[in-house]
Amino acid sequence: MRIAMFKETRTGEHRVALTPQVCAQLKKMGHEVSIEKGAGATAHFSDASYEQVGVRVVDGGAALLKEATVFVQINIPEANRVIELPEGSVWVSILQHRTSNEVVQALNSRKVSAFSLDAIPRISRAQSMDVLSSQANLAGYRAVIEGASVMDKIFPMLMTAAGTVTPSKVLVFGAGVAGLQAIATAKRLGAVVEATDVRPETKEQVQSLGGKFIEVQGASVGSEGGYAKEASEEYRKAQRAAVNKSLAQADLVITTALVPGRKAPILVDDEQLSLMKSGSVLVDMAAEQGGNCSKTRPGEVFEVNGVRIVGALNLPSRLASNASELFARNLLELFKLIAPKGEMIFDLKDEIVQGCLICHQGEIRHSAN
Ligand code: NAI
Repeated sequence: MRIAMFKETRTGEHRVALTPQVCAQLKKMGHEVSIEKGAGATAHFSDASYEQVGVRVVDGGAALLKEATVFVQINIPEANRVIELPEGSVWVSILQHRTSNEVVQALNSRKVSAFSLDAIPRISRAQSMDVLSSQANLAGYRAVIEGASVMDKIFPMLMTAAGTVTPSKVLVFGAGVAGLQAIATAKRLGAVVEATDVRPETKEQVQSLGGKFIEVQGASVGSEGGYAKEASEEYRKAQRAAVNKSLAQADLVITTALVPGRKAPILVDDEQLSLMKSGSVLVDMAAEQGGNCSKTRPGEVFEVNGVRIVGALNLPSRLASNASELFARNLLELFKLIAPKGEMIFDLKDEIVQGCLICHQGEIRHSAN
């Protein structure tokens, strides 16, 4: 079968779904690969580097549609692309199916078999295919770098002839994949790091990275399918009491909390913002889902009483080369499962396929919220 990769059309997207190295692996598995001309350019993969491994470079998306049966990209497809997809073809990308009802309906009406990469279940066997983890890891690193570039303080302690500079204090909300990488990165730069999470099991992970875990007393939230549940008002109250002292002392706050299919929970409200020091910075990694801070403006750096709130979007795209390498390797692992020998197999009994095959043969298998 022939796998085709489109050029990303989302504004500011620099990543690419397949790298030349992964294309070479796909060819070894018996697949043919075509890409849209210039698709890898923003991640620094030239057309020539794809051609060297036997990939066909095609001028324009329309031509690509004619020659393949399986289509891959990073982001949700645009409506005009979906209506052009050949009937019965296969689509693989991030789909955010819980909140993209119209796209799923449109894919299904073309009888497309659509795999949503963000719906891969959180089980050990699927770890190597998990684009959410690979991209969150890089985003966690980048969030610290973004924060550092806005701050007017340094991270490490500095002893100089002119006196000692104390290290910066960093507070991280959410010790998942992104949060743990943010903690590790801030520690490597010399900051003093604290973190909190609704899942008590993260305490040990935070401590193993040299961070201090802030426990929220008397309330718990728990998780489901590897994801945190929504926190109650009672929990929020207890969390505020536990973190507010650290919030008032922090030079950099990084928020990472997400609840799948829902607006991100507010973890820093107006009242808490007023506690923060002038000159401190908050990087809101949940900006795309509305933000963990009440004053976040997605895509902007917004200042409130001297606190700069960074609503950065698509942080992995700012590390396009590494992010594409990891994304492509995740895709390769998925293809080893769904098309191991040159052709698609739809093993509907497989737990991973069950989790991420959103529509197939005219049936929507996972409904939206
Ligand atoms: P996420 O992106 O859904 O959320 C980020 C973090 O925020 C989580 O740790 C969550 O507990 C926390 N959070 C949510 N609401 C909060 C609140 N109100 N206050 C404070 N913190 C809050 O989570 P992520 O990073 O994608 O994954 C969480 C865990 O799932 C990982 O640590 C990993 O152990 C596991 N995982 C397992 C996978 C697998 O086995 N294939 C794949 C991906 C993750």
